[in-house]
Amino acid sequence: MITITGPQWAQTNTDISGKTVLVIGGGGGVGEGVVRTLLDSGATVVATGRNEDRLNTFAERISNRALHVATLDGLGADLDEKAAALASRFGPFDGVVVSIASWGEQGTKPLLTITDDEWKALVEDNLTAVFRVYRALTPTLAPGGVLLQLNGLSADIPFPGNGVVALGAAAGKSLTRTLAAELDGTGLRVYEVVLGVDRTRARQLAGVDNRRWIDGTEIGSHIAELVAGTSPLTGEVLHYFVDKAVGPVTTPPQF
Ligand SMILES: NC(=O)c1ccc[n+]([C@@H]2O[C@H](COP(=O)([O-])OP(=O)(O)OC[C@H]3O[C@@H](n4cnc5c(N)ncnc54)[C@H](OP(=O)(O)O)[C@@H]3O)[C@@H](O)[C@H]2O)c1
Repeated sequence: MITITGPQWAQTNTDISGKTVLVIGGGGGVGEGVVRTLLDSGATVVATGRNEDRLNTFAERISNRALHVATLDGLGADLDEKAAALASRFGPFDGVVVSIASWGEQGTKPLLTITDDEWKALVEDNLTAVFRVYRALTPTLAPGGVLLQLNGLSADIPFPGNGVVALGAAAGKSLTRTLAAELDGTGLRVYEVVLGVDRTRARQLAGVDNRRWIDGTEIGSHIAELVAGTSPLTGEVLHYFVDKAVGPVTTPPQF
């Protein structure tokens, strides 16, 4: 459980035994930490990615009987069928966490040198995929279920060299907040969680690490509390988890 005492917070365990959470992008850098905490909290977790081999390696590494993996592509023509199959096998879901990201192939090109193809791919991967996942998976939520997008601070601030990624983040934030407003009163809860820089396995393997960065397991603790409905932020749509010392809050950082 996350307890907020003044400006500090502490990560502890929330019991969400009996709950089932689908993590789209669960095999990714942030997703892995989230999955680990949800499993530690007692949930059944279904983690998805697009690549079966990567998912199987991930499942072997986590090695937990409550973890299931499945391929799912937010841009796939078979998305609705796959969503229905997941729902019939594991659902209804108490939580659907969307942790999708794509940096594209363009590197850090300035905005005005982005080609039409690069633009299209980045918008599809970072925005269209999120919209399609929302449309396909919101109906799979249990009453009172949680739909939650993990997003980055480029949703709020300029991101030179990655302008189209930032555009997708800003639009994704708008999309999620609009969906939250449209679903208000249905009992479903929609959250937009904007993250600062995270410690990920891929970064650590590359020798890039900083203890002050947020760990995916800490993000998972916040999500477990939201699924349980015990977080102090349960009634708020927009969360910022940027400063590890402060924890999740509803106000953006001051730059
Ligand atoms: N890493 C950070 O420091 C950081 C900081 C702030 C915010 N965030 C946010 O955290 C979220 C996840 O980022 P990450 O760093 O974990 O990225 P990541 O390591 O690249 O993982 C992204 C995941 O998304 C999946 N994915 C990508 N496109 C997809 C699509 N079209 N359909 C279905 N799944 C798709 C990938 O599947 P495959 O394995 O098949 O590619 C992968 O599992 C993003 O919203 C990002 O903005 C990350």
